[in-house]
Amino acid sequence: MPAVPNAGVGTTAEKLARLEAMRRQARLGGGERRIEQQHTRGKLTARERLDLLLDPDTFQELDALVMHRATDFGLAEERYLGDGVVTGWGRVDGRPVAVFSQDFTIFGGSLSEAYGEKICKIMDLATRTGMPIVGLNDSGGARIQEGVVSLGAYAEIFLRNTLASGVVPQISAIMGPCAGGAVYSPAITDFTFMVKGSSFMFVTGPDVVKTVTHEVVDFEQLGGAMVHNTTSGVAHFATDDEVSCLQQVRRLLSFLPSNNVDEVPRLATDDPPERADQALDSIVPDEPTRAYDMQRVIRSVLDDGDFMEVMEHFAQNIVVGFGRLGGRSVGVVAQQPSALAGVLDINSSVKGARFVRFCDCFNIPLVTFVDVPGFLPGVGQEHGGIIRHGAKLLYAYCEATVPKLTVITRKAYGGAYDVMSSKHIRGDVNYAWPTAEIAVMGPEGAVNVVFRDQIAKADDVEATRQRLTAEYRERFANPYAAAARGYVDEVILPRETRRKLIASLELVRTKRDANPPKKHGNIPL
Ligand code: HXC
Repeated sequence: MPAVPNAGVGTTAEKLARLEAMRRQARLGGGERRIEQQHTRGKLTARERLDLLLDPDTFQELDALVMHRATDFGLAEERYLGDGVVTGWGRVDGRPVAVFSQDFTIFGGSLSEAYGEKICKIMDLATRTGMPIVGLNDSGGARIQEGVVSLGAYAEIFLRNTLASGVVPQISAIMGPCAGGAVYSPAITDFTFMVKGSSFMFVTGPDVVKTVTHEVVDFEQLGGAMVHNTTSGVAHFATDDEVSCLQQVRRLLSFLPSNNVDEVPRLATDDPPERADQALDSIVPDEPTRAYDMQRVIRSVLDDGDFMEVMEHFAQNIVVGFGRLGGRSVGVVAQQPSALAGVLDINSSVKGARFVRFCDCFNIPLVTFVDVPGFLPGVGQEHGGIIRHGAKLLYAYCEATVPKLTVITRKAYGGAYDVMSSKHIRGDVNYAWPTAEIAVMGPEGAVNVVFRDQIAKADDVEATRQRLTAEYRERFANPYAAAARGYVDEVILPRETRRKLIASLELVRTKRDANPPKKHGNIPL
């Protein structure tokens, strides 16, 4: 069957009218009944989503007239313009962005050969021209009727996801099903958003799980938005509905450069660079074991208190996200003393490492706030591979050539001191507050090791331990030994932090640094 029957017939006016009719047809996707079904489920259509994602009237559609080529299982008779995915480019805050939006109203958004080619084409265009790629996912996976051809099409997309990684930012929004091997495209992208209640991701669904492991679980429990945001760490953001999801994608893009050779975006701000927050001077409690909220520090320092946290529900002992200093985007990595005392464990190491590498790919300066008692002890952590996973964060910081600014607010103990953007691994400007404690380990642990015999023989064991701990704290638990060696560039008052960071950021803007030439390193995965 020809793509458009009788296309060459008629007057000019009829030919123009035919195109307009086809455009109207394409906008209907799988038809009004299926659009209605989509709405009944509380979901928007592929095109409605793009309208919300992109600046008004900026969408330039490509391949709207592509149709599938399969003929098996009645597919020859059922063909739709666009074939289940809307692709093209538009603008977000005036900057070009490549998009594909899967259309569940056509064969459940399932992926055919032609559909895969459309996605690959827009990805190739984005990679060549340096546009971020945003994929809106709502699909039943491989189009069953196309068999291995569909699997091949997926592989073509995975390849492009991988090749585009580190060249242009890639963002996935899951707005419906995303199942089977299809999940690996979002998994390779930089950030994954999920909509609560209507999106799910899993490699095998509840029925297969029940057959194989006899576990009974529903879609939401197996792969819903909060599961992937709290437990698996697969997703980076969870939103209440599709509208807020698309707004958050726009917001995330506002912090990111368009590609790996672009400058980070700069946004005018009225927030004075010299603004001093006196409250920071008393935020670190006198008692070293008492918690405080590092989010408070981060928001106080950033422009207008604006911080877009990434993976806020996962491994909350480390906080990562984007903000601006003096109008320029920065990536923030910080321990959170109010969650697990800010300790580094397997999940927080992996979370931090991936974020550091993203910022390094795209030349987004890193600002690190340190209050870390060390790596988490325990059989579970050791057997789970804290050595291997902790090494990821160390490796990520070591290889990062992007500007790196560090502020030690309190504890920087042991190997965790080295890891957290220390001077020794090419921290550019390293600050410490007077409350910083930089030492091989915490006073209690250190005294028990160094003075074990003395404590055991003491008449009053507890009094002796306390005296030695106080002596140790006085001698080691401060920033001045590090400052005396230049490991800390300056000990600053907490209220000066914003001013100091903005000044340093200005300095390191022109930083040039490179790693030895190599094919690629071998990060401990
Ligand atoms: C062809 C599909 C399809 C598919 C859905 N449809 N999935 N057509 N290939 N993979 C069609 C349905 O036949 C239906 O057509 C329409 O889409 C809507 O589907 P429903 O089942 O009515 O919708 P719903 O009840 O919401 O269920 C959605 C669903 C379910 C959970 C996604 O359709 C489903 O389980 N589909 C199969 C999922 C799957 O197993 N995919 C393969 C995964 S493996 P009509 O004409 O009735 O409207 C995979 C491998 C990728 O993807 C490998 C990459 C390496």
